[in-house]
Amino acid sequence: MNRIIRASAPAKVNLVFEVGPLATDGYHPVNSLFLALNLREELTLVAGNPGTGVSIYVHGDTLPEAHINAVPTDHQNLVYKTAVLFSQRLDMPKPDLQIDIHKRIPVAGGMAGGSADAAAMLVAINEFMHLEHGTPKLSLEELAVIGAELGSDVPFCLYGGMAIGTGRGQIIEPLEPLQMETHWLLCASGKGLSTPTVFHEFDELGKHGTFSDLGSFAQVSSIAELGSRMTNDLEPAAFSLMPALSEVVTHLEELGAVRAMVSGSGPTIAALFESEAKAEAVAKVLTAEGLFALTTTGMAQGSTLDS
Ligand code: C5P
Repeated sequence: MNRIIRASAPAKVNLVFEVGPLATDGYHPVNSLFLALNLREELTLVAGNPGTGVSIYVHGDTLPEAHINAVPTDHQNLVYKTAVLFSQRLDMPKPDLQIDIHKRIPVAGGMAGGSADAAAMLVAINEFMHLEHGTPKLSLEELAVIGAELGSDVPFCLYGGMAIGTGRGQIIEPLEPLQMETHWLLCASGKGLSTPTVFHEFDELGKHGTFSDLGSFAQVSSIAELGSRMTNDLEPAAFSLMPALSEVVTHLEELGAVRAMVSGSGPTIAALFESEAKAEAVAKVLTAEGLFALTTTGMAQGSTLDS
C-alpha cells in the first residue's frame, strides 16, 4: 500500500521586528521575536509513479481564492525547492512525490506561509526518505540548517513556540513559553507584498532601528504589557507601499485591539486581543465591512508529523 505522510507547520507573527541596515550579503540583520500561531499549513505526501518528479496540488477553503491561486505549483514552489535541496543533501536522486498543500496562512502576507510549507515538507520528506529508502533521520537542528537555505523564516517554523531570531532571522534561540495564551485577529489584504520590495522601501526610508534585549519577553505577565512592547521596524515601509494599511491598524485599535501591527513585511495586520470573544466579535465587524479577517491563538508547536 502507498504510504501517506502528513505534516503541519505554524504561521508566525513577529512580536518585535528590529531591522538593521542592508549588509553586503544582500540581507538585513534582524533582531526578531517570533511567536508561532495555531494557524497551520497541512501537507500530505505520497510516492509518485517512477519518473513523474514532484507534483504539487494546492487548495484551501478558508482563504480568499486569490490567495490560493497566487501559489505556484511548479519548481518555484518552496516545497518543490525543499524536495530538491533535501535530496541533494542526502545524495539521493530527485524523488517522485505527490504533495498536497492545505493552505490556511494568508499568501505573501508576512506570516511565513511559504516558509511553513517548507518546514512541514522538511519533516515529511525526512520521514519519507527514512521509511522508503532507509536514509538516516536528520535532527531538528540539521533540518533547520537546510531550512535556512530555503528562506529566513523556515527554521523558526520548524521550532515553533516563542524564539529570538537573529542573523537574517534564521538563527533561532528558543525562549521559555509565554505565560498566557494570546488571541489574535489577522486581517489579510487582497494583494500580497513582496518581502524584498518591503526591505527595499525600508532602505529608501533610511530609518533603521537599534537592537534591544528580547530575552525578558518570557516574563511578560499580561496581554497589555505584551501589546505595549510590540514593534515592527518594517511597518513604515509597508505603510508607504500600501497606505490603506495604517487605516486598518487604527480601525482595529479603535474597535478594541490591545495592539494592531503589520506582521513582518506585511501586508497582513496582526491584532492582539484580551479574549477570544472580543477577537471574534471584531472579526465579524471587519467581515461585514468587506475585509478578510480570521482569528487564531498562540503559542503553537513547530513542525509536526501528524498521523
Ligand atoms: O530569506 P527569504 O527568502 O525569506 O528572503 C527574501 C528576501 O527578503 C531576500 O532576498 C532579501 O531581499 C530580503 N530579506 C532581507 N533581510 C532579511 C530577510 C530577507 O533583506 N533579514
